[in-house]
Amino acid sequence: MVLVASNRGPVSYALGQDGSLTAKRGGGGLVSGLSALGQGAGTWVCAALGEGDRAAVARFGPRLPAADTGGQAVRMLDIPAGTFDAAYNGIANSVLWFVHHLLYQTPLEPVFDSAFETQWSSYAAYNAAFADALAAEAEPGAAVLVQDYHLSLVPALLRERRPDLRIGHFSHTPWAPPELFRVLPDAVAGQVLRGILGADRAAFLTRRWADAFAACCAATLGAEVEWASAGAAGPAGARSVTLEGRTTRLGVHGLGSDAEFLRKRAFQPDVDERLAALREQVGERRTIVRVDRTELSKNIVRGLLAYRRLLTEHAHWRGRVVHVAFAYPSRQDLAVYRDYTAEVSRLAGEINEEFGTADWTPVVLHVEDDFARSLAAYRMADVALVNPIRDGMNLVAKEIPVVSERGVALVLSREAGAAEELGADALLVNPYDLAGTAEALDRALAMPAEERAARSERLAAAATALPPRDWFLAQVSALRELNRD
Ligand code: G6P
Repeated sequence: MVLVASNRGPVSYALGQDGSLTAKRGGGGLVSGLSALGQGAGTWVCAALGEGDRAAVARFGPRLPAADTGGQAVRMLDIPAGTFDAAYNGIANSVLWFVHHLLYQTPLEPVFDSAFETQWSSYAAYNAAFADALAAEAEPGAAVLVQDYHLSLVPALLRERRPDLRIGHFSHTPWAPPELFRVLPDAVAGQVLRGILGADRAAFLTRRWADAFAACCAATLGAEVEWASAGAAGPAGARSVTLEGRTTRLGVHGLGSDAEFLRKRAFQPDVDERLAALREQVGERRTIVRVDRTELSKNIVRGLLAYRRLLTEHAHWRGRVVHVAFAYPSRQDLAVYRDYTAEVSRLAGEINEEFGTADWTPVVLHVEDDFARSLAAYRMADVALVNPIRDGMNLVAKEIPVVSERGVALVLSREAGAAEELGADALLVNPYDLAGTAEALDRALAMPAEERAARSERLAAAATALPPRDWFLAQVSALRELNRD
């Protein structure tokens, strides 16, 4: 038996004004991985995220109807709304996410006052609720895969309750370097690391993040790190961390994109329709495409500033290129995200004011989520701009080359996990460097068609090397194969 625990589950509910509930199923690696195990082999534990989810739990009980989950056993935890808000918005998204993505302006924030301490207690309670549910659900010796920074305390809490289980933790984010991780109050930093070290295996998207985690364990807890000896293939990596006699193995699984799904989905009629509409807007001009959640770490504002610089310094592109930017709503409960969203729209408008002409709109910005339209933009992209400040992996960089029709030139941040695998065929940029990013956009736009197609083909091959299902199953087998102490 395999259990998955994550904040966001495979299904969410919208509550209609008439009280009706509409289920919306999500995709992603965990969904296809767990379903690959077959019906009844797995259970997914997640939290109710909003009023629709809460209404669903009130109506159906914690086990959601199979018709809504695609047959998957899903247990949704109705954690009290105030506790959930403090844990999710307060700690997970405003503290841990900020630490791992280097988002703090440290002279002013973070401020760890008594409000933070109250939120931290809620985060601990929310993690304990997951540990309780998993302990109750798991058959003897089951494998449990705990996901992400929302649930960093769960492995240790679950081990206390159920020492018989095989516990894995997977981080989908980068991991902070020790100098920044040590911004957290010492007790909190210790609890986060000890929480994850409660797992038998802690896994990451790239070697860089695994090593950073190990370095934090050594710097903060004095834990012992076992380093693989440096081979010809590259630098040595951390293999395990031992604290107080217990060893946690480290793993790296570089999630790839799902070629089979994308190639099918991207050529459906609804995508064709949106492609035609975009083509009409853009004409035969070149396109620089970006698709993101409107997320501070995605660096959308600097992307626009770099585009402005391109139009200023390489004026021959004026009228010949359109920046197609899709920035979909995210974490709108947080004021800083709302402000960032407003800044993206303001800046796009300013660029259009400054450079636009009667028949040319330099930036086409869309802020409502539309997956079919994203796929249409993927198909038409001449250049993809993926310039996050920092990113665990970045799947957009791994999706566009797979469905691109004429081959895409990828301008990619060297701080994205994907750079480790795609760096050779992308144009790597420092995400803070506007001049460098504008130069890379110019090079990408000017890249000869054959070179672009050849690079794009290699990018697609690298991007799909570990499809979601294999990524998931590899974690399950690695966990099962561990020798028990
Ligand atoms: C990142 C995190 C995920 C999270 C997703 C969307 O990819 O690693 O755990 O689910 O962002 O963020 P949200 O706050 O909307 O769940």
